[in-house]
Order: sequence, then C-alpha cells, then structure tokens
Amino acid sequence: MKQILITGGAGYIGSHTAVALVESGYTPIIIDDFSNSEKSALDGLKNILNQEVKTYIGDCNDKALVERIFSENEISGVIHFAASKAVGESTQIPLKYYANNIGSLLVMLETMKKFDVKNIVFSSSCTVYGQPDELPVLESTPRKDAESPYGNTKKICEDILHDHVKSKSGAKIVSLRYFNPIGAHPSSEIGELPLGVPANLIPFVTQTAAGLREKITVFGDDYNTKDGTCVRDYIHVLDLADAHVKSLEYLDSQEANFIDTFNVGTGNGNTVLEVIQAFEKVSERKLKYELGPRRPGDIEKVWANTDKVNKVLGWNAKYSLEESLRDSWNWQKRLSNL
Ligand code: WQD
Repeated sequence: MKQILITGGAGYIGSHTAVALVESGYTPIIIDDFSNSEKSALDGLKNILNQEVKTYIGDCNDKALVERIFSENEISGVIHFAASKAVGESTQIPLKYYANNIGSLLVMLETMKKFDVKNIVFSSSCTVYGQPDELPVLESTPRKDAESPYGNTKKICEDILHDHVKSKSGAKIVSLRYFNPIGAHPSSEIGELPLGVPANLIPFVTQTAAGLREKITVFGDDYNTKDGTCVRDYIHVLDLADAHVKSLEYLDSQEANFIDTFNVGTGNGNTVLEVIQAFEKVSERKLKYELGPRRPGDIEKVWANTDKVNKVLGWNAKYSLEESLRDSWNWQKRLSNL
C-alpha cells in the first residue's frame, strides 16, 4: 500500500488525516517531535484503526532523521503539517517560527528530491489573505501583508513551493489553505489538545463549558458584522482530513512540475456569538461570556469561496457547524471525564 509520510502526524489535523488515509487504503507513517502534540494521540489512533501507525519521534529539521525515514520506507508522498502555529506566540519569538516553519519545509523538499518522491500536500492557511476586500475569498484573491510572523511563514512557504516547481524539480504540489478547523473524531479517541490556555475559540468554549475556564471573553463586538463580532469559516477536522486524501489522489493524475492551491472551508461564515449560541444548543449548557476589547491582529471577517475545491478535487464539507461543535464537546467531555 502507498506509504505517506505525515509530518506532525500526531497533531490535531495530522492524526485525523492518518485515520482518513488508512480508511482510503494508504499506509501513513508519522514523524512528530511532540512539541505541540501528545503521544496519547498514537493510542487514540490505535484504538480507532486497530493497528499501530509507524511513528518516528523527532524534528523535521533533522535532515539525517528525515533521510533515514525515506531510506527505511517506500514513501510515495508527503503531507507536511509540522509547523509552529500559534499566531500570538509567533510575534514573541519570530526567529523560532521562521527557522522551524521554513527550515522543515526545505528539509522535506530537499529529501524528497534526493529520493525522487514527487507528491507533497502542504498545510497553508487562509491567514495569507489577511482581511480580503471581497468575500467569499477566492484562491486568486491577492495575498496581503501577513498579520503575524506565523502568517508570513505560510506565505513564504507558498512562495518556496512555487519557485521549487518553476525550477523543474519534478515536484507535484497541492497547497491547502485551511480556514478554521474545529471538531474531533466521533469516537472521541482523538481531538484538539491545546497546550496551556487555548488561544483558539472552540477549545476555550469547550473548556468553559467543562468548568475549566470561568468565562469566555468575546474579542470585540464593534466590527462591521451582523452582531458586531468576528466572522470565520469553521470546518470540521474530518472534512479537512478528507481534503488531504483527495489532494493525494489528484496529484497522482498530474504531470511533474505541478502546483495548485485550494481553499478548504465550508463556504459559510459564522460570528463568534452565533458559535456560542450554537454550542449552547448542542451542549444544552449556558456559557458564561463577556464582551471585551478586540484582539490585536484579528481580521474582521473571512470565509471561503469553495467552487474550485468542489469542482477540481470533487470535495466539499459535509459536517455542519452544530455537528462539529457536538464532536468538539464530546471530545472535551472525554478529556474532562464528564
Ligand atoms: C476565532 C475568532 C477571535 C478566542 C487562527 C489562525 C489560523 C489558524 C486558526 C493555525 C476570532 C475570537 C477567540 C477567544 C474570541 N491557526 N475569539 N475569544 O484567529 O481566526 O485563526 O487560528 O493554523 O491561521 O489565524 O482563530 O479560534 O483564535 O479565533 O472572541 O477566547 O474567535 O477574535 O474572531 P483565528 P481563533
């Protein structure tokens, strides 16, 4: 079976993609340094798949390790998730973000070329758009100056991928621009594991509902949106995982020296207050929240135009916001023994 190297494969999106790969007949191999994930994710994968997923513990910047992985296995493609991803943290330690996020991609591309592996799916982000002038945002929408060093690393990585293809390296690349991943596997065996105080909305919501946080602060209610709070496109992590499998299948039918970029969102936008209300309905719990000041760096509203990914990859999001929140809540209840 085709072996696919998943960098950061013990992480939130990586672990769900490992499940989707096995269910589609691939054999995932994980490399993860567990800097932003936990080994318990591997146990969760084993419980879901009834098989171990071969895992190498280490840093994707470790060229000797990456080359060993390629020499010990028959890798036919790579999905590159591994990166530092906390927007706020990236403004504190930008050099670590540039070294890690760009360095790991370069090691992956150089090693793939050395072992004549052509297919790679890259984890990009809608953050490259900044605040789009028109919505829903198209892949052809010009990227804007990044709001953070994290977002800038994603833009730089996209440019590296384009130049790598232009150099006739033979690579075949899909770059997926994620919107806001939420949800968890319905088994509650794997899910999002934020370290410390969650920066992202949904883990903060579920931890508040579980009594781990006193209340949610809504970052700004004076935006030009239907209720004054920010709008985002929240996509179930299972839908996101499926988009990676469809991307690998798509690459199989492309010629060498190929690159394409896709928005991966639901195509719908929801405000923060709508998410809170939807969660209260799904969890049947009242959430304590207060309206606070805007968070620096936040954009006002973004959601995806998904025409291209629907048409070219034959992919569309299947889960609703409520279903995603239900799975996030079930996962939190498992974590909190509720
Ligand atoms: C969503 C909305 C907040 C927390 C970031 C990155 C993106 C990706 C996902 C890595 C915003 C509001 C949040 C809270 C709130 N990261 N909010 N109270 O900022 O859209 O995207 O995370 O891959 O690249 O940019 O996601 O979940 O942090 O915020 O009001 O306690 O919820 O202001 O409007 P974001 P988020």
